[in-house]
Amino acid sequence: MTQVKIDSINLAFDDTGSGRPVILLHGYPFNRTLWERQVAVLRENFRVITPDLRGFGESETADEPVTMMRMAEDIARLMNALDIPRAIIGGLSMGGYVVLAFYKQFPERVDALVLADTRPQADTEEGQHLRAKQREQILRDGMAETAHSMLPKLLTPESISTRPDLVKHIQDMIMGTKPAGAAAALMAMAGREDQTELLSQIAVPTLIVVGREDPITPVQDSQLMHERIAHSRLVVLEDAAHVSNLEQVDSFNGVLKSFCKKL
Ligand code: MLT
Repeated sequence: MTQVKIDSINLAFDDTGSGRPVILLHGYPFNRTLWERQVAVLRENFRVITPDLRGFGESETADEPVTMMRMAEDIARLMNALDIPRAIIGGLSMGGYVVLAFYKQFPERVDALVLADTRPQADTEEGQHLRAKQREQILRDGMAETAHSMLPKLLTPESISTRPDLVKHIQDMIMGTKPAGAAAALMAMAGREDQTELLSQIAVPTLIVVGREDPITPVQDSQLMHERIAHSRLVVLEDAAHVSNLEQVDSFNGVLKSFCKKL
């Protein structure tokens, strides 16, 4: 793990392999280990950078409010620090929200996009209200309730009952998240901009992947992105819910690697 100072905070990241840079952004409330199974394969041909977004993993939490755009700026500054002008940039769920914000602000720095189990729309009013309640609950009681209540949305029932190591990895990521970081990200997601209009302006090759049983960012959100993004490919992974990269590692890695190699 390496760290880079961005304003007042240290941002932690892994940087491995060599070749064309690929940057992968984790979702909420996870950390960079979300991508370890993809890194293991991509590093054979690419330079793979996996940061902990601010407030998550080993990155610090700032005092001021966070936004998706702020997290996107962190990635641009990380790229500056690593002397990377352009990269393939991917993200899962909240990571995808940051990727879209990044593309909006820095389109010239993007070679291609990977949008996994994510969506372009902003939160509804009801969704924002729920985030505010979750934030209060997390700041009061910590992450245990989130780890418990999110699990059935993250994995299929089959995986929950037969893959204890996978369940443990997910719960460890959630329980290791600092409540202050999670609370800040919840408010950032609640206030995020709607990026639906941006989709038709995306001019780089884009891979869209989603678990068939994803209840958080369902298949129709990915279909919408596929319809609006000109150079996009949509892959729906069977027997996967929200964290499709961990639930169907081989299929996910297969499409991700062949997409990156064909660029
Ligand atoms: C995530 O996986 O990043 C979150 O579930 C996304 C969200 O809550 O909107």
